[in-house]
Amino acid sequence: MMQRPEGFDDVLSPVTRHVESELPGNVLPQAPRVEGGEAAAKVPPGVGQGQGGHHRATTLAARGELVECGGHPGEDDVPNFILLPRAAESLKIPFVASGGMADGRSLVAALALGAEGMNMGTRFIATKEAPVHENVKQAIVKASELDTRLIMRSLRNTERVLMNDGVKRIMEIERTKGAALTIDDIHDQVAGIYPKVMLEGDMESGAWSCGMVAGLIHDVPTVKQLIDRIMAEAEATIGQRLRGFAAG
Ligand SMILES: Cc1cc2nc3c(=O)[nH]c(=O)nc-3n(C[C@H](O)[C@H](O)[C@H](O)COP(=O)(O)O)c2cc1C
Repeated sequence: MMQRPEGFDDVLSPVTRHVESELPGNVLPQAPRVEGGEAAAKVPPGVGQGQGGHHRATTLAARGELVECGGHPGEDDVPNFILLPRAAESLKIPFVASGGMADGRSLVAALALGAEGMNMGTRFIATKEAPVHENVKQAIVKASELDTRLIMRSLRNTERVLMNDGVKRIMEIERTKGAALTIDDIHDQVAGIYPKVMLEGDMESGAWSCGMVAGLIHDVPTVKQLIDRIMAEAEATIGQRLRGFAAG
């Protein structure tokens, strides 16, 4: 069991419940991860360098898991505008914002709400270097903020995915089965789908995680171009828009 920093349970009990609960077998469980490559800009020295539990807690806090994120948002639907200030009130460790982050505006907002930086999932998938099929990148670019759906809610394994034919099939089964739904009813639709989508580019084959932030993603830059743009936008927002506000 992870060691939790002060305030962690207070603000993140839904997350810990989610992570620690026994998930039904083979349903894309959201294991806590320490993902160096995914974390983003403006993380001060020391963040993500803690020992075991603290590092994981930092990551979990960041991914706290918000209703808008791609993947598993948990079951409480607390959005970033609430969760990040709550995390800042309760946590004694630095944390990064996650879910719905795409650009310099996201970064400035995350900093304003108390985070030390931001984590991006969906945005990084639509970059030149991301090792996924081009169809996936184009699907993210084409999608709007209205094109994702939440599935597996009644199994308490909610996942935000991009709408496609496979997701329509899952939602139809969920509607038909109602409260009696079990993982066996949709197992074929959710297991083994990622290689088909990510490697073969079969975009209708089934459910794959995608955030509402797709609506803010309009291109497929290199990672360097993306990060440079984010930093330039953030600096311009702080230096012009916010400075102008402070100056009256
Ligand atoms: C295609 C895809 C696959 C993901 N797979 C996992 C996973 O296996 N485990 C996990 O903890 N989070 C996973 N996530 C969640 C991301 O790590 C991240 O928390 C989330 O994407 C942040 O929200 P955003 O997409 O709005 O940026 C995945 C996200 C996407 C888009």
